[in-house]
Amino acid sequence: MIDFDKKVNRKNTNCFKWDIPEVKQDVIPLWVADMDFEVPKEIIDDLHKRIDHGIFGYSFPPDSYFQAFIDWQKKRNNWIINKENIVYSSGVVPAIIMAITSLTKINDKVLIQTPVYGPFASAIKDHNRELVENELIYENNYYQIDFKNLEEDLSKNVKMMIFCSPHNPIGRVWKKEELEKILSLCRKYDVILVSDEIHSDIIFSGYHHYPIAKFANLEDKIITLMSPSKTFNIAGLRSSVAVVNNEKILRKYKAEFFKYDGHLGNLLGYTGFESAYKYGEKWLNRLIPYLEENVKLVTDFFEKEFPKIEVTKSEGTFLLWINFENLGLTGTDLQDFFLNEAKVLLDLGTKYGEKYGNFLRFNIGTNKEIIEESLCRMKKAIQTLEGKWQVF
Ligand SMILES: Cc1ncc(COP(=O)(O)O)c(C=O)c1O
Repeated sequence: MIDFDKKVNRKNTNCFKWDIPEVKQDVIPLWVADMDFEVPKEIIDDLHKRIDHGIFGYSFPPDSYFQAFIDWQKKRNNWIINKENIVYSSGVVPAIIMAITSLTKINDKVLIQTPVYGPFASAIKDHNRELVENELIYENNYYQIDFKNLEEDLSKNVKMMIFCSPHNPIGRVWKKEELEKILSLCRKYDVILVSDEIHSDIIFSGYHHYPIAKFANLEDKIITLMSPSKTFNIAGLRSSVAVVNNEKILRKYKAEFFKYDGHLGNLLGYTGFESAYKYGEKWLNRLIPYLEENVKLVTDFFEKEFPKIEVTKSEGTFLLWINFENLGLTGTDLQDFFLNEAKVLLDLGTKYGEKYGNFLRFNIGTNKEIIEESLCRMKKAIQTLEGKWQVF
């Protein structure tokens, strides 16, 4: 039975979300992008079966691993992929790093669209490439791409763009026209496009995810990164893929993986990945409405209780980007306020770009009771600011 309301104690499991020192016994962690739901039963059963074999030597991803992904993309996105164009990677972030190191040189310009998942910027800076931040436009609790500005930036000798689709943390599911414009700009300025589509299975009703590579030709320089890790809550199994159609790019990118011995992975990861794509659809189709309800819960709460706190309109992902500007606190002060006064740990806005100190990211990938309890605690904490804060 699928029960997203079920509470599973994740404490003392070396869990990044629940076991870091800030998350003391009474703190609710809503920070890192990891959900609290038990995974589909078929994944657990397949992992048991694999473990029962009793030998865990070096293993390569089997054909069935790639086929499960190919079938999933065909069915969900009507995207046709050949096995020869898929490269295994333990994670999407390592794959981004490999793309940067294999396809750009030291001091080359690499562009990202802020606010965006922090490891994009670190991957660029840590490998001595020049970071180009192209800001998204924020208006009426909604983000859009400033294409004029993007073109201006891309035209200044940018070598690579790391694109987030759907976009973490702002929850945008990019429209077909937007994707086509990105693609044509990358073509025009000969920019290699790395499209991180890790969140592409969690799309709310009324929206549709298009893998950007679906609109591309075989010459286009695109690396698409995907994984069932966010969708099915199996990030700890470390398995993902890159799809690369351009032969030259594929050769260079693959060679980098071999150089760093990244082509061999964790055999339980292969099993979890394959099982998720083969059997997880029913579970996912139940998860999405549950998450939609959670989005509504949080959005309605702020609209009713604190209308000057803006929840960015979400079209997908299990992450909400909330503007607390009117609270009069920023950066770690804002995060600490909720941690200390409400015992709720939200993700720091500045991790997504220096300018975003007024924002916190709220992870709704947990059961309703936890969300309700968090909102109740946050309400009490905010009310202590009465008199100091302009909303009252
Ligand atoms: C956009 C995005 N890319 C990549 C990752 C992490 O991927 P991985 O754990 O496979 O390295 C995350 C995790 O939150 C993410 O949001």
